[in-house]
Parts: sequence; structure tokens; C-alpha cells
Amino acid sequence: MPIRGPLRRPFFRLRGEEGPSLLELLQQALSSTTGGYDRLAPKFEATPFRTPDALLAPPLERAAAAGVEAALDLGCGTGAALRMLKPHARVLVGLDLSEGMLAEAARRLEAAPGEALVSLRVGDMLDPPADLLGRFDLVTSFGAFGHVLEEDEPRLVDAAWRLLGPGGRFVFVTGTRPPRTSPARWLAHGFNAAMRVRNALWKPPFVMYYLTFLLPRAEALLRARGFELRVYRDFGARGLVSVEARRPSDA
Ligand SMILES: C[S@@+](CC[C@H](N)C(=O)[O-])C[C@H]1O[C@@H](n2cnc3c(N)ncnc32)[C@H](O)[C@@H]1O
Repeated sequence: MPIRGPLRRPFFRLRGEEGPSLLELLQQALSSTTGGYDRLAPKFEATPFRTPDALLAPPLERAAAAGVEAALDLGCGTGAALRMLKPHARVLVGLDLSEGMLAEAARRLEAAPGEALVSLRVGDMLDPPADLLGRFDLVTSFGAFGHVLEEDEPRLVDAAWRLLGPGGRFVFVTGTRPPRTSPARWLAHGFNAAMRVRNALWKPPFVMYYLTFLLPRAEALLRARGFELRVYRDFGARGLVSVEARRPSDA
């Protein structure tokens, strides 16, 4: 007998009918990072993992006001940041591990306003394709640092440096560690502990951790590589900041 009524629906869905079900999120978590995003791609925009426009707008509007010739978004996903930059840049490149996410990005970018020449590349932001090195005056990344292990953060900083030309800017949003009294801090630690257990027991790994590449560690790594930093308190007291790391013109 066919199941009718509410039982036919998954008992939990993110953001209404468009979002993934709990089962789909579980399947994602049991895949590799790339495979997980390939699966999630068609529904990604309806998840809370998509960086909201309210977080993208302040740093990207500031970057656009300073002028953008060629911009690269690392871990571009479905292209949220690229879409915002499309009316302002001449050349846009999105780099992501997941072909599924890039297919969604291509579809959405095609329909977005702006004249920029867009290309989407499959690749690892820790080891970017050689032909992209030194080509950009703006490198951005949003919502993707949780997929970079702490020991790989110096490689991320080095990749951003090498992708930029002299005087170029690496722009992103990060945060400070929430206080010990904050439930968000303990939820994040709980999630990270569960992820470590999952990755110890199950292959391939799904690399996703909270509270990564935070200030002041990110500042220290960027300064050690030679970047000059500006930190903008764009989001009031929410614990999030925009960072603009500039590769000096003479470096
Ligand atoms: C949470 S999504 C964020 C997508 C988009 N930037 C946004 O803010 O909505 C993270 C994205 O990073 C990509 N990613 C994870 N690790 C990566 C890596 N090492 N190199 C390139 N992309 C990566 C994933 O495939 C995914 O599309």
C-alpha cells in the first residue's frame, strides 16, 4: 500500500521543499568532500552552507569600489560570490573541487547580470593550477576554509599569495573564537569531535570542521607570508570580520 500524507515526506528538510533531507545530508557526510558536494549541488543554494548575500556584500562591494580587473574565487561552490562580482570585473574564475557545484555555478552565472568573462575550473585551492598563478588582482574565498585542515592553512595562504599579482588583495570573511560561555563554541567542538571520529573510522574522509582559519591565527599566517592586513568589523558584534590581505606592490 502506498504511503500517503506526511509520512511520504522526509521527516526533516532544510529550508522547505528545496533543501536536502536529513538522509541526503547523511549520504553527503559519508562521501568524500568532493563526492559529498557533487551530491548536494542541485540543492546547495537552499542550505545554510551557502554564504548569505548579507555576508558577501560588504567585502565584495568594498573590493569592487577599489576596482577589479581579474578575480578568482576559491571554493566557489554554486558561484554566489562570482555572481556578485560579475558586473564589476573583466575576468572571473571560479575554482572548486566539485564538478557538480561548478555545473550549478555555470547555470546560475549565465543568468546573472554583468559582462565579465567567466571560467570555472576544477581544482584544489591548496594546489591551484599553474596557469592561474600571478593572474589576479583579487582572490576571494567564502565558506570554504572549514575544508582546509589546520596543518594545511599555510599552504592556503601561500596559494593565495602566488595567485595574486603584486598589489593584489586576498579578501575573505572569518571570525574570532566564540567565548567559552557561548553554546556555538561547544556545538562546534562537538561537531568537530564527531567528524574526527567519522574520519578515523570511515574512508574516504569528509574534511569539514568549524572554527578554522580564525583570527588571530589567520592574521599571523598572512603576515608571516608577507601580506599587509586590514580587518573590517562589517558585521557588528556577531564575531565575524572581513579581512583584506594585500600582497605589497614591490613583493
Ligand atoms: C560550503 S561550500 C561554499 C561555497 C561558496 N563559496 C559559498 O560561500 O556559498 C564549500 C565549497 O568549497 C569546495 N572545496 C572544498 N575543499 C576545496 C579545495 N581544497 N579546493 C577547492 N574547492 C574546495 C567544495 O567543493 C564546496 O563547493
